[in-house]
Parts: sequence; structure tokens; C-alpha cells
Amino acid sequence: MHSSRQLACSRWLFILNRRTPCIETFVNKAQTRLFNSSSSRMTIMPAWVIDRYGSNDVLRFTKNAGFPIINYPNEVIVKVHAAGLNPIDVSMRGGYGAASMAMKRDPLKLMQSGSEFPLILGRDVSGVIMECGLDVPPVYFKEGDEVWAAIPPWKQGSLAEFVVLSANEVSKKPKCLSHVEAAAIPYVAATAWSALVNTGGLKMDNCGKKRILILGGTGGVGTFSIQMLKAWGAHVTVTCSQNAERLMRGLGADHVVNYTAGPVEVPLSALEKFDLVLDNVGGSTESWALDLLKPWCGAKYITLVTPFLQNTDRLGLADGMLQTGVTLATKALKHLSKGVHYRWGMFAPNGPALDDISEIVDAGKINAVVEEVFSFSQVPQAMLKVENGHARGKTVVKVTTGTD
Ligand SMILES: NC(=O)c1ccc[n+]([C@@H]2O[C@H](COP(=O)([O-])OP(=O)(O)OC[C@H]3O[C@@H](n4cnc5c(N)ncnc54)[C@H](OP(=O)(O)O)[C@@H]3O)[C@@H](O)[C@H]2O)c1
Repeated sequence: MHSSRQLACSRWLFILNRRTPCIETFVNKAQTRLFNSSSSRMTIMPAWVIDRYGSNDVLRFTKNAGFPIINYPNEVIVKVHAAGLNPIDVSMRGGYGAASMAMKRDPLKLMQSGSEFPLILGRDVSGVIMECGLDVPPVYFKEGDEVWAAIPPWKQGSLAEFVVLSANEVSKKPKCLSHVEAAAIPYVAATAWSALVNTGGLKMDNCGKKRILILGGTGGVGTFSIQMLKAWGAHVTVTCSQNAERLMRGLGADHVVNYTAGPVEVPLSALEKFDLVLDNVGGSTESWALDLLKPWCGAKYITLVTPFLQNTDRLGLADGMLQTGVTLATKALKHLSKGVHYRWGMFAPNGPALDDISEIVDAGKINAVVEEVFSFSQVPQAMLKVENGHARGKTVVKVTTGTD
């Protein structure tokens, strides 16, 4: 299903904007029928933008943000109903990853520096398809479909009335969730999927006898990962602060270890060894967490806290990538000699994975863990909430702009 959907959505590689009238002459009748002229009057939209990197005061509300345009025929425009915030939004507000994102947006360096501004943050969206590119088959998406997506950090985000995405990044929203609930899941789900499935090799039918340790269970990635792994039958141990034990047990965690009660590696090392450790915390955890893995059994330590973007910001793209490669290879080799695998987990946009996750959600096996909901006028407060940490799930912004 994945490959056919990808093929169907990426056949044409030239630029084609369905809302540009002159293009109509190039398309056949069947395609012309799909045109939506109702949106052609729209050139601006409300959004929260930043015009420079900095602290929370760089956030600016505008009614005149540029309306997103379908540049490729495999793209869709989504009307945002709810936007989820993640720690990466706070980091990006401060300029984190700017060098790598600039390369991704403009690989030939044709634009001046600062061309990313005004930049719209927000990596989760739940909303409704407003318009589809010509190469998006109606069997996948059509106007009016309720969808969710994780927005790659190099694209304009969801703190706006509309967002344009590749159809490969979008998925039909679970029917049982509201938009606000749905906006709590895609970015952390795509990150967890990339780490646990693509890097960790876990899947529904091989988790049954696996022992998994999640360091940092209470945040967005942790609360999602516990539920997905339990739905797949794994045995899940998590670390969290004491007052989160009930939440962790409620999500299905089999064993909960309080990291505020003393060095957490002491109680963890008394437990049976693990097949996989997912590290959402970073820092000094690397110095002891790999000792908790079963040696010579293919066991993996996967950390989501990597120096990749810091390196490219600090050293530039070429030197940063070189430094990153050396660091990763050195650590991987060192731990391989002890019989365990050391890996980095990275977010990757993945509409087909969200299709699978949508089914698990609709089966009642994954719930949205929304910590707090803010209105569209409260985006700065929502961003501060994420910045101040101690998450218990996700911070979501309900996007109502007056044009609904
Ligand atoms: N590499 C990538 O592509 C990628 C993508 C997404 C996320 N990430 C990273 O992955 C991490 C998790 O993301 P997230 O969205 O889940 O973040 P989050 O929502 O901020 O959650 C982090 C959680 O860790 C807990 N925590 C902090 N220190 C801890 C410790 N020593 N032991 C156990 N738990 C601790 C915090 O809760 P309490 O302190 O209140 O217990 C918090 O709930 C973040 O560092 C994020 O930057 C990386």
C-alpha cells in the first residue's frame, strides 16, 4: 500500500499550480473537472509568524501571511483545525537547525539568507483538505476529507489557517478523535515510528516477547510509544517522575521507575535486561543505558537526543555532517564490540505510517494525551508552556480564525 500510494502521488515532477488559471489549458477535461475556483480569491490568511530567531517575543500575529500555493501536483492544501506544538517548535524559534533547514529548502542556495522568514511554526496538524493537486487520486484524498499530518521542519507549519503538504505526508484522521485530540499525535507518532520501526526493527508481529525500556515516558513521544508498544504486545518499562506513575500505568506501562528518587540506573540495572531502549532524555543516560541491553542478541539503544542539527548550526553543513558521521560511527563501533547496537532516531514524515496508526487509534488501543488546549490567540502562552517543559502529553492550539 505504501509504495502504490507514493507512486500515485509523485508521478509528475514539474511545477503546476492548480489555482493558476492559465494552467487549465494544459490539462485534459477530466483534470479540469477537479478545479476549485472558490479559493482563487484567497491570497492572504491569518497566521502566527516569526521574522527573526529569538525568545517568545519574536512571535507575531498577522492577518496577512501568504496563502499557501500548490507548487507540485502531489500536494494538498489543508485547512487547519488544530495545531500541536512540540519541543522542536521552541528550538526552531531560537534558530535551532537553521543551517540544515536552509539547505533542505534551497539546496542550490539561490535565495538570500533569511529567506525563510516570515516563518510559521507548528509541526502537527489536524484539519480538512481544501484543495488537491492534479496528481492526487481522489481514492486517496479529496476536498472535505478530514486529515492529520506531521509537518517536516523545513516546511511552513500549522500555526496558520492553511498549510500545504505533500499527499505522502498526509493521512486520513482517525474517526474516533476530535481535531484537537488528533493534533496531539502525528509528530510524536512519526518520530516514534521512525525510531522504533524503521531504526529499531519492531513491528506488530515481533514485539510479543520483547522487553522495551522508555527513558522519559511522560512527554509526547513517550506517551505515544508506550501505547503503540503495548498494542503490539511488548513488555514496557518506563522512567518518569513520581507524580506521573498513575498516567504511565493508565497508558499500559508494565513497570514504572521514578527517576527523581535517586540514580535511576540503580533500580533499572536490577531488572531483567532489555531488547530495546528508547531514550527521550539524552545527556548522561548514554553512559549507563547501553549496559541495560541483552548483549549479543541484536539489542538496540536508540536515542532521539542527537547532536546532528547542533553540529551543522555550529560548524556549517559540510563540517557539521562530517563531525556527526564521525561521532555516530565511533559510538556505534564502540558499543558493537560489546554486543549491542547504538543508533540515533530521527523524525521522518510518513503518511502511510499514520494510516497504520490511525487504524490502531480507531481500534481503541491508542488515546491522545492532550495536556492543555489553547486558543489561536494564545499561541505565545502555548509556546511558553512547551518551553517550560514537564510535559504530560501534548500542548495543542485550536485554530479558529473567524473564517470557519
Ligand atoms: N531526533 C528527532 O528527530 C526528534 C524528534 C522529536 C523529539 N525529539 C526529542 O525527543 C525528546 C522527547 O520528545 P518529546 O516531544 O516527548 O518531549 P517532551 O514532551 O518535552 O517530553 C520530555 C519528557 O521527559 C521527561 N524527563 C525529563 N528529564 C527526565 C529524566 N531524567 N528521566 C526521565 N524523564 C525525564 C519530562 O517530564 P518530567 O521531567 O516532568 O518527568 C518530559 O515529560 C526531546 O528531547 C525532543 O527534543 C527528537
